[in-house]
This record gives sequence, structure tokens and C-alpha cells, in this order.
Amino acid sequence: MGSEEMTTSVENVQEMVRKNPSSVPERFLIINNDDNPNISPVSSDVPVIDLSSVCDGNEDEIKKLDCACADWGFFQIINHGIAEEVLHGMKNTAAEFFKLPLEEKNKYPPKDIQGYGQAQSFLTSKEQKLDWEDVLMLFIYPLSYRKLDYWPTSPPELKDVIQTYSAEVHKVGERLLRVLSVMMGMDKDTLLEMHKEVMHALRVNYYPPCPMPERVLGVSAHSDSTSLTILMQDDDITALQIRRDDGWLPIKPIPNALVVNIGDVIEIWSNGKYRSIEHRAITNKYKARTSFASFLTPTPDVELEPLDQMVNPLNPQKLYKKIKYYDYVSGSLEKKLETKPLRKDAN
Ligand code: OGA
Ligand code: NI
Repeated sequence: MGSEEMTTSVENVQEMVRKNPSSVPERFLIINNDDNPNISPVSSDVPVIDLSSVCDGNEDEIKKLDCACADWGFFQIINHGIAEEVLHGMKNTAAEFFKLPLEEKNKYPPKDIQGYGQAQSFLTSKEQKLDWEDVLMLFIYPLSYRKLDYWPTSPPELKDVIQTYSAEVHKVGERLLRVLSVMMGMDKDTLLEMHKEVMHALRVNYYPPCPMPERVLGVSAHSDSTSLTILMQDDDITALQIRRDDGWLPIKPIPNALVVNIGDVIEIWSNGKYRSIEHRAITNKYKARTSFASFLTPTPDVELEPLDQMVNPLNPQKLYKKIKYYDYVSGSLEKKLETKPLRKDAN
């Protein structure tokens, strides 16, 4: 055996909990005892957007989406057109994968971000605090980035299920990007073209139950360095929280809805009009939780810069310096766990 050490530099969290359900190693204690729970007192929930109505050109719904992107940075979409069977198929099949013995799951050790393991991609030092999760990360599009070596072969239907789910989510992402393009004063396909190609990675987050949820985070506070992130979460556990009014506001799951958030790339292109909001996931004492984050991004060579038409009397200067997307991501990985590295003064 000993394959565990060889394949993952950090212990598998699910396995750790299985062996020792009541202990939490020091490196996972992120929230201090004296921190206040810090739950936002705001009573309203994130906006719920009817995607079909938006795509039919309903002015009120488009206005609502515009406010959601500008004021919240997060919203849930309903009537997105993805069949319930596709959503449930993804959830059920992934659940089968996570139930497999560790030796089986460790056949896909993480490399170049892809594969299965602890939130490996962000590990920068031995002292770094750890998130209470294991991750399966796969590049979906473009096909040239797809490395089937990392795609689990067990359960046997998982590959097809991921392909079907991701293709559907990709279509939803493109529909949203067309609407956003028009909202930003461009032709509907311009934002898509600015990506060169809409790259797409799937991150399946598995959060085992945690004996000390008040001290440990499933995923610590971050903003996504994407253009858009589309997330499917479990219906029965509220864990995702967004930064709002100096507190953390929970996003209550709506069955079969998807959570969408504006990432850093759209924040930059929109010159800060649309906001990439910090978020985190808390842990749950009794139940494991799984979430599926689809990250849509431009290609690495795309130069990011606020669009000229987003500079206007209300927002008279470019708030972000020009930066190649590749360099932006490299920088934000290094700064992970710090607060958001955005909003550089332009000069
Ligand atoms: C992410 C993320 C939140 C969640 O994967 O980037 O923010 O609820 N996940 O799992
Ligand atoms: Ni995120």
C-alpha cells in the first residue's frame, strides 16, 4: 500500500473522518473561537432569475438580472432547461464515486489541477490552513484540454453522466453570456468571442461531516477567477455563504435551481459594475455535502481590461489594469486565502 502518501500530499479528508470521526487536526481550524458567527442579519435571499424569461427578452426579468449582477454578484436560476434527470443523474452517480474505497478513487491522482484529491491545487505551504473537502477536478472544454486519464472509470456511467451534465451547463453558460453581452452594450456574441473559446472546468466538491463546524470551513473565503461559475448543490443542506453587508449570507438551496456567480473576469470587463463576490462553504456536523462547480473562463492568452463602454460618467476611469488572464490566475492562486486581490488603482 502506501499509495496514499505517494498520490496525495495531504490526507484525504473523507478517509480521515472515516478512521477518526471525532477529531479535527489543527491545520483545519480556520475560524477562531472568539470570532463571532458573523451571520449577516439581512433577511432577503439572493435573487431568483427565470432564465427562460430572460432569454425570451422579458425586460423586467433582464432588469432583475442586471441588478442581481451589479448588487449581489450571485443569483439562482430556474427554468434553465436542464432536465431534472440530468441533474439527479450527476448527483447520484457522483455519490457512487465518493462511496468507493480510497484505493479506487486514488487511481486518479491530481496533477496539473486535474484529478481527485484534497483541495490540492491551492496548496502553497506546509503551514497553510486546509479546507474540509476532497475534490474531483476535470477540464471539460475545450476538448484538447480534456484528459480522460483523470476521468473515473468507476462507476462505469460516470464519464457519460459528466459529459451530459457539463454539456447542458455549458449551454446555460453561453446563454447567460449572450444576455450579459447585450447588457454590457455589445452584440450578443461579443462576450463569447472575447473568451476566444469558453473554457470549462468541473470541480466536484465533497465535504464530509465535520465534528467542529464552528471552527472549520468546507471551502474558505475566496472569489472565483472565472467569468461565470454555475453551481449545483444539495437540496437539503445550507452551506454556501456570500459576503454581504459585513456578514455572511447563506444561500438556501432551491431544488433543481442552479446558483450562478459573476467571477473576477466579468468584474474586470464590466469595470466593476458587475461584482465578483467573496464566498465560502461552511461544514455540517451530521451530513456530507456535495457541490458541482462549473467554472467558465476565457483562454489563458486573453488580455483582460475594462471595456471602453463601461467607462462612463458614473464610473469615469478604468478601475483595473490590463492583465493577461494567465497572469491573473497565477497571481490569484498565490494570493489564495488573502482577501480579494482586485481593484487595483489604474494609472
Ligand atoms: C467553489 C465554491 C462553494 C460550494 O468550488 O469555488 O465556491 O458551495 N464552492 O461548494
Ligand atoms: Ni467559489
